[in-house]
Amino acid sequence: MSDVELLSRTIDLTTTPVQTPTATSVLFATAEYAPEIKVGGLSEASSGLVGCLRSMGVDVSVVMPDYGLIELVEAREIPLVGLPSWCPEVTVRTGWSPRSGPLTLISFEGSARRHPYVDPETGTGWPDSDHFFLVFSTAVAAIAAQTRPDVVHCNDWHSAAAIGLLAPEQRSILTVHNLAYQGQTDPAWRHRWGVHGDAFVHDGAFNPLAGGISLADHIVMVSESYATEVISRDGGFGLHERLIARGDALVGIRNGIDIGLWSPAEDPMLPVTFDHDDLAGKEICRKELLRLAGFEHDKGPVLGVVARFVHQKGIDLALELAPFLPSLPAKLVMIGSGSPELTRLAQDTAARHPHDVHVFGGYDEKLAHLVVAGSDMLLVPSRFEPCGLTQMQAMTCGTIPVVTDVGGLRDTVTDTDRHPRTGTGYVATAPTSMSLLDAVHRATRGWQNGRKRASIQRRGMTADWSWAAPSSAYLGLYGTR
Ligand code: GLC
Repeated sequence: MSDVELLSRTIDLTTTPVQTPTATSVLFATAEYAPEIKVGGLSEASSGLVGCLRSMGVDVSVVMPDYGLIELVEAREIPLVGLPSWCPEVTVRTGWSPRSGPLTLISFEGSARRHPYVDPETGTGWPDSDHFFLVFSTAVAAIAAQTRPDVVHCNDWHSAAAIGLLAPEQRSILTVHNLAYQGQTDPAWRHRWGVHGDAFVHDGAFNPLAGGISLADHIVMVSESYATEVISRDGGFGLHERLIARGDALVGIRNGIDIGLWSPAEDPMLPVTFDHDDLAGKEICRKELLRLAGFEHDKGPVLGVVARFVHQKGIDLALELAPFLPSLPAKLVMIGSGSPELTRLAQDTAARHPHDVHVFGGYDEKLAHLVVAGSDMLLVPSRFEPCGLTQMQAMTCGTIPVVTDVGGLRDTVTDTDRHPRTGTGYVATAPTSMSLLDAVHRATRGWQNGRKRASIQRRGMTADWSWAAPSSAYLGLYGTR
């Protein structure tokens, strides 16, 4: 099957009709859920989609591991029955979180931890993550057996293995937010997965994501372009043949953003609000950002970066722009956390270029909103990007995105120089610092042209980045096999 054929089957959000719910109950399993447990985009994509589905009348039950970090009001605790003998005892805690509504938490010995994936002190992964998430997945399947939802919706490898334990009549969906993380572990785990054990063996390992991909009724990639990238050898992280084998079951549905949280006209995290008819407030946010970054001279645009500091996100590529900033002129402001090496690289670069680069240490939600809304441009220099959310958040705030031509970035940002009438930002043709420099250079020139800048901003601010159309596309899948 060619990429082109697959592309033609991806779901076009502009023409997706509004769906009336055909599935009324969904068991939604995730390792992260904003604002409670937030490492990356998975958290915001989960809560954004669930919030929108609930507003459409769908009964969504969110289930996640009990890291011991969420206070539940009116919590009820019930021991989970029907688990296999290898599994530890599990308690299901259901209740209400004032910040994110009804939640179901899976509690077992050792489930409490300060971070879902890594030891925050050392930055290294927890050594028992495989056991942890395979217990979680087993519990998800046991809950499904008891509550019999219309559909079980799993996200990433953390819950993908549940799909191998579901009853044959149970409908299932797997959303892949990032194919790079597959949860490979000891092949002996297959003996605990009954009739579907072999489906999980890939390249000699037990691979939860691979098994989920082979067994789910639908596999969703989080953007149309990503759905085509993953069936290539380069983008498939070893799973492209499995994905190709699923044919029509693989689709792309681009994420939305939570417009309740990302709307500059009513964002309580910003010093002042603004909208597309009056950008005066954006200028105040910009001044505040420059002040906090310690930049005195206000020359040229401010380029913001809000990202996890991992190789995928191209943090190093953005930092390579530092020597060129004075001549553009532009300033670079970064916020994020992640790999200790990239954090050190960012801090060292800022120390060498104190007038051009500022790095806010650690991640702070309020500051992240200020960087997105107060910057003139948002740089997203990813090497690959399944969807990416910050470029859409930026456009909502009148911040012009400068992105690489990959995955969801390609699907959401139109290059202004190539498409002057519809452009919403600038697209670097390759994930290299040279190509990025070219895009930033074009963006800086465009920014200096007030009229051009205003029309790019207006197009981004008035586009619909909400979850409405993506949720309708999911609803369409929920009702089918
Ligand atoms: C992951 C991907 C990102 C995507 C997010 C939500 O973090 O890297 O591209 O937007 O998941 O789906």
